[in-house]
Amino acid sequence: MTENVQAILAQGLAQLAATHDTQELENVKALYVGKQGTISALLKQLATLPPEEKKTFGATVNQAKQAFEAALIARREALAADKLAAQLAAEALDITQPGRGQSKGGLHPVTLVQQRIEALFSSLGFEVADGPEIETDFHNFEALNIPKDHPARAMQDTFYVEGSTPEAPLVLRTHTSPIQVRYMLGNEPPIKIIAPGRVYRVDSDATHSPMFHQMEGLWVDENVSFADLKSVLIDFLRKFFEQDDLQVRFRPSFFPFTEPSAEIDVLGARGWLEVGGCGMVHPNVLKNVNIDSEKYTGFAFGIGLDRFAMLYYGVNDLRLFFENDLGFLEQFR
Ligand code: PHE
Repeated sequence: MTENVQAILAQGLAQLAATHDTQELENVKALYVGKQGTISALLKQLATLPPEEKKTFGATVNQAKQAFEAALIARREALAADKLAAQLAAEALDITQPGRGQSKGGLHPVTLVQQRIEALFSSLGFEVADGPEIETDFHNFEALNIPKDHPARAMQDTFYVEGSTPEAPLVLRTHTSPIQVRYMLGNEPPIKIIAPGRVYRVDSDATHSPMFHQMEGLWVDENVSFADLKSVLIDFLRKFFEQDDLQVRFRPSFFPFTEPSAEIDVLGARGWLEVGGCGMVHPNVLKNVNIDSEKYTGFAFGIGLDRFAMLYYGVNDLRLFFENDLGFLEQFR
């Protein structure tokens, strides 16, 4: 009988040692010391034995039960320790691996050129002004001496905003001149601003995008003359292109909002290149924004920021700026 108990215990200990997880462990526990377990059955058997056998056999079974339970607890702890170790190993950081790094973003080439131009004009005392991209017909056209049905409207092929009425049309601004209109309506001369921003026209090819960027400038004060216009623009262009003897030409032209008007050309390796428009602010424009045109004069100019970025960086297709190709954009970081 005692041998039988020892055999059962040996088998139980072997089964405990062979468990891989707590579930298996609990199953083995039930097999031996659970309600229907083999060691539990031995204890029940005790009751049927005569008293003298009961004592020695009882001691043997109890020792076996204690030994099984001690082994059970030890195995449970061992399994928990193994599990923790496995988890730690799985979650371990390999601090010897090189970092993945975080690539820094960079500014868009057109933004870089805009900032460069803003810095140059700031040094000449110009402030940066801003305005909405969806404009009223008044700010984009009428105030700028471009009446409805005037042929000058054909110079700027316009996007009209859906839902606006023919009586009060809203447009995607075709130039940043409306920023100047808003500024003149809200401020007294002297006015000395630049107006950078996105503008829109129905136009799309290698040198035209339906969305592009302009920088316009305006100086209104007493005695502002065409000579001031020339000196400011020539100074700016020579600084921008980093060429002290850059040749600049003012070629007579027409804009409804300036009189006289001129196109601005610079002499490059391949001849004269148009870089913008300019002129003396038309008295009608000053009148429209309640500025006394007898007392004040002003000049205005407009350049294409994208065109300047193309020239500055030697990019030959405008569309490259708007395709968001990182391989292209990363060159300007
Ligand atoms: N607003 C003009 C345009 O977008 C540019 C310009 C501004 C020309 C100021 C002359 C004077 O075409």
